[in-house]
Amino acid sequence: MTKSSRKDLPKPLAYTISIPFDRRLFRHDIAGSMAHARMLGKQGIISETEARAICDGLKSIQEEIEGGAFPFKDELEDIHMNIEARLHDVIGDVAGKLHTARSRNDQIALDMRLFVKEAIEGAVKGLQRFQEALLEQAGTGIDIIMPGYTHLQRAQPVLLAHHLLAYFEMAQRDVERFRDCRKRTDVLPLGSGALAGVTYPIDRESVARDLGFARVGRNSMDSVSDRDFVVEYHSAACITMLHLSRLSEELIIWSSEEFGFVTLDPDYTTGSSIMPQKRNPDVAELARGKTGRVYGNLVSLLTTLKALPLAYNKDLQEDKEGLFDTVDTLSATLEVMAGMVRTMKVEGDKTRAAAEAGIYSGILATDLADYLASRGLSFRQAHKAVKELVDYAADRGLALNKLTIEDYKRFSPLFEDDVFSITVESSIAARNTPGGTAPEQVRRALSAAREMLRAGNG
Ligand code: ARG
Repeated sequence: MTKSSRKDLPKPLAYTISIPFDRRLFRHDIAGSMAHARMLGKQGIISETEARAICDGLKSIQEEIEGGAFPFKDELEDIHMNIEARLHDVIGDVAGKLHTARSRNDQIALDMRLFVKEAIEGAVKGLQRFQEALLEQAGTGIDIIMPGYTHLQRAQPVLLAHHLLAYFEMAQRDVERFRDCRKRTDVLPLGSGALAGVTYPIDRESVARDLGFARVGRNSMDSVSDRDFVVEYHSAACITMLHLSRLSEELIIWSSEEFGFVTLDPDYTTGSSIMPQKRNPDVAELARGKTGRVYGNLVSLLTTLKALPLAYNKDLQEDKEGLFDTVDTLSATLEVMAGMVRTMKVEGDKTRAAAEAGIYSGILATDLADYLASRGLSFRQAHKAVKELVDYAADRGLALNKLTIEDYKRFSPLFEDDVFSITVESSIAARNTPGGTAPEQVRRALSAAREMLRAGNG
């Protein structure tokens, strides 16, 4: 693209221009202008011939920009003025009629809404691909047993698929959140003019239909100053990044030598320039790290909007760069996370061994308490007896399954030989309640999740 030199601009103009970044909105701007011109023509505000000339000119400008031949001019300030000036070069004076019944204030509000609607679609698609990757991995390792953690301490055995499906649920809520935010984005601001409405007999409903908006804005002052939909997009993006950062953290821990639960595909790790043995989980670390900048973009916009009087103020121009950054960061992060999940190798022997080793630290202690409770003890009493049993075993450095039945009976006479038939498998199988980790439940959850995804996350 041709660039004029920014250093030739007077300082204040160099400070106020937005063309270096808002050129990204050219497609949205042109689509909005075409719809506006068509409406002006139909309403007889300009002639149909003029409307057609404007649309043809805009179309050729779009091709010019896409082909990299458009002469962007910094001194023309923003994408709107750049396109309008170029339209004048291309079709002559009739170009001046395009801005009838319109202001840059409702024009930019429109561009932003079109852009955010697209960004929402992109986020949903990215989330769906991430969900697919989770289901693929969960399906492959449906029988893999691992320790479930609370406080990062081995708590109860679970199926790895159950753990992965927890992330599916998070992504599902994320999809719903983005779609919910879409409802409030799907409102046409065009026709609000600078702030008070316009004096021409415009047809806003037809413009809304033409551009695919569900309805038109009800208050012109609100329409030109509202950026809530951008805040909502940011918020939804932040929550998605939050979820991805949690998974990243787990993959970093799981891929450590200490855990060894997963081996990340080499494409998703990098070596160290000094330590030849290293395979650093850089992708996961960056996904975790980039969550910070996405939060920053939300806080930045919230702060820009704080205490802003009605209606349009130039402060609103600050809504763009952070949004573009978040859209790009989110889409790239979803893509690499999906790839990393799909290609990682779960070390089932290691996860199982960790769950088995947990018997020593009492990973089956809850099952022992349930055992006593099912034989008539109150759960509280059962909990106390098993806690004493676990402490007793720990003091002697013995695994719970290495104690004798006599040892067990010291803590409750209700213990019988069958207590030794409690294993990590039986523990998992026993949690056969809706939402639990029993294989039957997890298989059901997996097929429900597949079905949900097939149905477009409805
Ligand atoms: N570049 C401006 C923005 O991004 C476009 C709207 C300009 N309106 C105005 N009255 N200067 O917000």
